[in-house]
Amino acid sequence: MVVPASVADHPGIYHLLTAVFQGPSRGEFRASLEDPHYQPHDRLLVKRGPQIIAHALVTRRVMEFGPIELPVAGLDWLGTLPTLRGQGHGRRLLVAAEEHMASTGALAGLVWTRIPHFFRRTGWALCGRHFHSRGGARDVISGLIARGLLRRSHRRLNIRPWRRLELGALVRIYKQNLDAAFGPFQRTEAYWKWLIHRGGYDQICVALDGPDLLELEEVHAPIVGYSVTRGERIVELLSAPGCPTAAAQLMARACRDAIERGRHTVSLDAPPNSRVDKLFRAASGKRHHHQMDPSLVLMVKLLSPVKLLRALAGELHRRAEEAQLARPLELGLLVDGKKYRLAIHRDRVEAVGRNIGRSYLRLNVADFTRLVLGHFDWDEALADGRVEPSTNLALEAGRVLFPPLPLWLPPLDNLPARE
Ligand SMILES: CC(C)(COP(=O)(O)OP(=O)(O)OC[C@H]1O[C@@H](n2cnc3c(N)ncnc32)[C@H](O)[C@@H]1OP(=O)(O)O)[C@@H](O)C(=O)NCCC(=O)NCCS
Repeated sequence: MVVPASVADHPGIYHLLTAVFQGPSRGEFRASLEDPHYQPHDRLLVKRGPQIIAHALVTRRVMEFGPIELPVAGLDWLGTLPTLRGQGHGRRLLVAAEEHMASTGALAGLVWTRIPHFFRRTGWALCGRHFHSRGGARDVISGLIARGLLRRSHRRLNIRPWRRLELGALVRIYKQNLDAAFGPFQRTEAYWKWLIHRGGYDQICVALDGPDLLELEEVHAPIVGYSVTRGERIVELLSAPGCPTAAAQLMARACRDAIERGRHTVSLDAPPNSRVDKLFRAASGKRHHHQMDPSLVLMVKLLSPVKLLRALAGELHRRAEEAQLARPLELGLLVDGKKYRLAIHRDRVEAVGRNIGRSYLRLNVADFTRLVLGHFDWDEALADGRVEPSTNLALEAGRVLFPPLPLWLPPLDNLPARE
């Protein structure tokens, strides 16, 4: 039987995780307990007598999805003691975790995993891998110079390590970059504090537009960008809108720091083809993205498709408006036998279940998940016969309402503490 954990179970859980995963580190386990959204019953356990034999952790997050905030839940540290595998404990925990996720109000579950087939059976869909760009540290600096981005005539920013009292600047710049982002988690001040305290990074640097006067408030020397690095990896690099030179200068600083530590290669985590990613690749002369870890994939489970479609209704309406889609119109979705219908009016979109109407798309649950999250390759799915539109209208409406989106989950949120 699956039971929720209590505080008293924490030492036993740490013991189990060490046996199953040879980790987490003590620091990372402590950090998981200090997560501002954490509640002990977000851990689910299978026990035999007093012994914990299997465990799963559900984390509560809010995902920024364009203009919408979606409550989501992560699944971490799902594991069964090696000697007791193959008896259904893992499956039972997964089902219980999905129910718990839904009970927290989450509309989608997320897991980074190396065993996608284990999750596929309960309707999880592969929704991405983690890509990064890599280049020579010296090449990046020369590339930035060659592009005139580090010229003295450019407004010189002051770049230095971040100080704890400047938390507000990180909160602000991160928020300023969320407008067109699909996938990053909402970071409140408490969440930022937790991320920083967790220490999954080596250094945070900030770019100041003005003199670095310690005693002055940020107002007098506004912070216009920051970078988070771990070893030779630039984990996050964001700049304030209207200050494009900050990204180049922070990038150059990260490369110089890497060279100083004897590293020749640097990597950048950023949404593929974002401004920062393009800048890095142009400077380094590298055209391709690399998979960070080819065996690690992101899987998503839609926990309540109708509620999710309702949450997206405003955005779906905006897309219909922008494409001047003739309305009123209806689009059904027939997903492995389950039925959903979108009624697209002139002034709004409504989503209902249990009915598809005449114009619909037939597809499986994995493709439906990718469709809703903007990770669906229309041309490939049509060529493979994985999506079957009942009418031309269904195809046209489907393409307009569910375009490809740059789904990207920043890795900083998942970077474990080092010790
Ligand atoms: C994944 C895991 C939790 C499954 O636990 P379990 O108690 O054995 O799960 P169940 O008995 O319910 O299911 C086992 C099924 O998963 C499959 N499975 C489990 N681990 C697998 C793996 N690494 N590769 C392929 N299949 C795997 C088994 O083949 C079995 O399939 P079957 O039902 O067709 O026989 C367990 O193998 C484990 O702890 N693995 C190490 C940690 C891990 O990788 N966790 C996943 C993190 S995202």
